[in-house]
Amino acid sequence: MKLGVCWYPEQWPEPLWASDVQRMAALGLTFVRVGEFAWSRIEPEPGHFDWAWLDRAVALAHAAGLEVVMGTPTATPPKWLVDAHPEILAKGRDGQVRGFGSRRHYCFSSDVYLEQARRITALMAQRYGQHPAVVAWQTDNEYGCHDTVVSTSDAAKAGFRRWLAERYGNVQALNTAWGLAFWSQEYRNFDAVDAPFGTVTESHPAHRLDWQRFSSAMVERFNAAQVAILRAASPGRDIIHNFMGLFTEFDHFAVGRQLDVAAWDSYPIGFLGQGPFSRDEKARYLRTGHPDLTAFHHSLYRACGQGRWWVIEQQPGPVNWAAWNPAPAKGAVELWGWEAVAHGAERMSWFRWRQAPTGQEAMHAGLNRPDNQPAAAWPEVEALAAGLAQLGPLPERGRSDVALVFDYDSVWAVQSQPQGRDQDALATAMAWHTAARRLGLSVDIVPPDADLAGYALVLLPAQIVLDQALAQRLSDSGARVVAGPRTGSKSRDFAIPSGLPPDGLRALIDVTVARVESLPPGIVLPAGNAGQVTGWMEDVEAGADVETLLILDDGRGLWFARGRAHYLAGQVDAGLLRRIIGQVAATAGLAPNDLGPDVRVERRGNLNFLFNYGPQPVALEQQLVIGRNPVPPAGVAIWKDEAP
Ligand code: GAL
Repeated sequence: MKLGVCWYPEQWPEPLWASDVQRMAALGLTFVRVGEFAWSRIEPEPGHFDWAWLDRAVALAHAAGLEVVMGTPTATPPKWLVDAHPEILAKGRDGQVRGFGSRRHYCFSSDVYLEQARRITALMAQRYGQHPAVVAWQTDNEYGCHDTVVSTSDAAKAGFRRWLAERYGNVQALNTAWGLAFWSQEYRNFDAVDAPFGTVTESHPAHRLDWQRFSSAMVERFNAAQVAILRAASPGRDIIHNFMGLFTEFDHFAVGRQLDVAAWDSYPIGFLGQGPFSRDEKARYLRTGHPDLTAFHHSLYRACGQGRWWVIEQQPGPVNWAAWNPAPAKGAVELWGWEAVAHGAERMSWFRWRQAPTGQEAMHAGLNRPDNQPAAAWPEVEALAAGLAQLGPLPERGRSDVALVFDYDSVWAVQSQPQGRDQDALATAMAWHTAARRLGLSVDIVPPDADLAGYALVLLPAQIVLDQALAQRLSDSGARVVAGPRTGSKSRDFAIPSGLPPDGLRALIDVTVARVESLPPGIVLPAGNAGQVTGWMEDVEAGADVETLLILDDGRGLWFARGRAHYLAGQVDAGLLRRIIGQVAATAGLAPNDLGPDVRVERRGNLNFLFNYGPQPVALEQQLVIGRNPVPPAGVAIWKDEAP
């Protein structure tokens, strides 16, 4: 795994640059990411370019032996461009213009902005596309950050109408698909359809779902435009985008298919406060991040990049953007590095080289303090670099035993009609991932169209639309399948399936969901000593060949099985979910073993990794190649399989 750093030469006096790149190289870094916000320095006046400074920065990096990942600067259209073309600005759900003065103010649907983005991308690609130091391109920066996927600009509304016309052909088909006879919501033409915001009570759920699908398609369109230019002008270079954590507003699998590598920005402590975790977990993992959040995203983006993925921004210390911004535990920065190694990242770079004294992110740590002295993360970066050098070439990551199907469309479907305030398909997927990973199972996160052959166990935490093709692949794979409540609960057009849920799954297990209920926080439905259901419960009618493996105290069936297929009718607590997945995994020939809340393991070829996210040291019997025994809090241990 190559190590690097995000570098902003344009924000610092030039005399610092030479020592910057030399110190990077001495630290063991081998690449820099530059350029992704530098538009106002590259094109200070419309049509007038200053490339000289960036030429010199790239040349200095090259001379120091550093590779360059070049970002297109389209996340920050400069003021002169906004003044000349105010129509490129996005509008919020409230219809208000999202103005200049921070970043990401453009609207994905604006053809005017798309043209500008093409223009600056082409010029950068022309200038640096063949540069020997440039090994990769990053398109834009964090699509969707600051809630910027959805825009209600005139361009977005016009785009949505075209998108609907293409999808439904004629407006009658739209009226039928959405069921608009309800409340007299029928349209006479596509031009009459508006954005689904600002209505008296909730807007139509299929309208909202399609709006999200359209908004996602606009992100794909925007990215594809840059990718086409970069591919042509910069052959042989990888094209990446830096995705975010806990973010589902567009289909990352779709954008990932356009790229060579899916990169993501990992801020374990920044995300902790925003994640679906309890108060206790947020306190326990305050300085390490949650044991499974980072791993979840590593696996997700491994799938988005079809196996190739990087961490292009890694937290080095306190960030500035969370509600509170604690400092990492001693060792945590190194631990996060090893998690990425264990999951098979090709590269990791820290954000950022030096903490800036000014601007929105002045309180955000870097590898260097604002006075250019090494910050607290520095020795941990040194340790990681030394450890990687000691290990030498790393074995292949390989495929996991367990596949967890994750689907952006399902996340939006639940958001469109949650039927219970805290329903959240991402949180559900993360809970199922945690259950499996705490059992020591390795998990691949896969899209619903993935090849499932070879997996021992497939988890479907919340697959809302389960089409024929997926049902077929589930049945062909021979894997054990565990499906959660709400599986197959809607058609692609967002109707309740005519044969009732779980549509598609019934080929594997003959259960019918006759009624659903959601429950407020604090209400629990016990299932004897086995555990309990909170939040969501279904009344299920089971076919004659279906076994009921667990029932609630109120008599309703909770866990159903037929052959290899299992269906859960309620949202079960973490312990029960773990036992169910563990039991099914064991029948699939796996060896689940509860590691407790804090410890996680990963395998990469003959290398075994253990991560201690908890407050207590962990004693091991193995002979370690990296790490100390007992493994301290926020510590890592690596050992090799014994030669047979
Ligand atoms: C990321 C973003 C960076 C920087 C960083 C701070 O979301 O891509 O530009 O803002 O957060 O943590």
